[in-house]
Formats: sequence, structure tokens, C-alpha cells
Amino acid sequence: MLGERPAVFHTNENKDFLRDILDREAVRVWQQSVVKRKLKYLGLPAAEMLDVVSWEPFLSTFTTIEREENQQHLMFLRANVNDIEHRMKSLYGEFDDILISGRDRYGHSPDWPFDLINLDYFGGFIYSNLSRPRAIKKLIENQSNYRHGFLLIITQHLRDGDVIGAKATLVEDMRRSIKSLCVDQTLIESIDNVMDWFADATTPDIARQALYMNVFLKDKGEAEQFDVKCQPAIHYVGTGHSSMIHFITELRHRGDAAHRIASEQSLVDVVDLNVRTLDHGTLKSMFKRPQLRPA
Ligand SMILES: C[S@@+](CC[C@H](N)C(=O)[O-])C[C@H]1O[C@@H](n2cnc3c(N)ncnc32)[C@H](O)[C@@H]1O
Repeated sequence: MLGERPAVFHTNENKDFLRDILDREAVRVWQQSVVKRKLKYLGLPAAEMLDVVSWEPFLSTFTTIEREENQQHLMFLRANVNDIEHRMKSLYGEFDDILISGRDRYGHSPDWPFDLINLDYFGGFIYSNLSRPRAIKKLIENQSNYRHGFLLIITQHLRDGDVIGAKATLVEDMRRSIKSLCVDQTLIESIDNVMDWFADATTPDIARQALYMNVFLKDKGEAEQFDVKCQPAIHYVGTGHSSMIHFITELRHRGDAAHRIASEQSLVDVVDLNVRTLDHGTLKSMFKRPQLRPA
């Protein structure tokens, strides 16, 4: 079992703002400007299904994943009350296991592909068995098998089991790969400044976490022929003062390609994304930090 296990999800003001204002707008634009038909949703809506209810005008069907029996039961009641039960398919168990094995606790499988995937889970990203990165990689591969673009929303706790080593390795790998792409030697100093800032022990870990996730999604997406566009990560305080981090990523499939994609948003653009923090309905930049491309 991964991470600590809060029994029941309770929403709060920050979460409501994200779901009902920011995410809802991203979902609306994805539906109306990109997909142009109602969206097939896969996600973890919890018993109250607040995301499904808020985004319902843009959704066709929804596949839900839940590991707590009582929450599953309440979810059915909620869907019934909202008269959306006929559009819902429920999967039971840990989402990592379901994505990796392709089956839930009762042998049921997700009906791939999806247009909108909302992984809103308890716990962090990297644990020693790497099941979470493997699950998300599998999800991207499944979508790619159908050459199907999607909007991916991920919310996780800023609390990882053994990430210090993994994140430090990433920063050094990125330092090398950005330098190797750089023909202008005068920029080497600014690359070192930025990477030293990420590596510094006094830099808040959330900066490394945001970089880690966005680079992970970009890397796995591009390998599966998606043009990947990351947004700046958002930090917010969740229920019980937990530190949460939220990512919205657009993955557009380039069906004509067999090679690895170079997204319109470059690696330099992704490194330069600043984390934003949500404070009573306002988003602010979280750090003053060096940039690869000074503003
Ligand atoms: C944060 S809540 C979802 C909130 C909802 N998306 C919203 O916008 O209000 C997460 C739900 O997924 C379940 N859950 C958390 N981690 C899970 C995991 N690893 N596998 C399966 N279910 C999980 C929890 O029991 C909870 O009901």
C-alpha cells in the first residue's frame, strides 16, 4: 500500500476553487476548442463526485476508480440522485494496480481511450517500487495505442517516500542534457545558475517536485508521439493543512509520426515554468528564481 491513507476525502475552499474555476475552464476549453464533442472521463471523483458534477456539461461518460468500499457505495447513491448512473462505469482498487495490470479487483478493465483523465489521489509520486510512475507511463502508452490525445490533470501530496535521490539525479541529468543542446557557450553559466538553484538544499522541495513531474510527463508523452504542453504547477493547502501540488497537461497525439516528438513547448520552457501558489482564490508566483531565459 502506498503512502498514508486518509480515510475520507473532504473538500476545502482551495480545492473548490481549483476544481470549479480553474480546472473547469481547462476542461471547457479542451471540450469546446480541441475535442469538439463531449469528453470521456477517467478519474478518482470520490463519493461526492464533485469534479464529475462540476464538469458534467462537458462530459459524456465517466469511468471512476475508488479503493474504499464505503466510498464506492456512496458514489453509486450520488450518481443515482444526480441521474447520471447510466453514464458511469466503476472500477475498484488501487489506481496504480488497475493501470499497470489493466484490470480492477473484479477483473473489469477501463474502456480505453479517454479524453480527460483526472488523477486526484492520496500520496506522492515516487515510492521505492516506482508503481506510480509505471502506472502513469502505462496510461500514456494505452492512450497512444489509440493515437488519442487527452487532457491530464494530476493532484498529489507533496510528500514522497524516497525522492531526494531521484530528484537530485534528475537535476544533474537535466543540467547535462540542456548543456548538450546549447550551442551558445555564453549560456552555460546561466544553465549552471538555474540548476544550482534547483539542487540547493534551501530551495523548497516543491520546485524540484514540479520540475520532476513536468519533465516526466513531457518525456513519456513525447516518446509515445504526443506533443506535450505543461502548465505551471499549482501549490495549495488541502484539508488538514496538507501541502498539495496540481498539474494540468495537454497531450495532443501526432498520429503521423513514428519518431519521438519534439513538442512546441521546449525543455527550456518547461524548466522556466514557475510554481504558482493559490491563496484565497488568487494565484501568485511562489519563488523568485533564476530563469534560463530571463524575462
Ligand atoms: C482527493 S479525492 C477526489 C476528489 C475529487 N476529484 C474532487 O474534485 O472533489 C480522492 C479519492 O480517490 C480515492 N483514492 C485516493 N488514492 C487512491 C488510490 N491510490 N487508488 C484508488 N483510489 C484512491 C480516495 O479514497 C478518494 O475517495
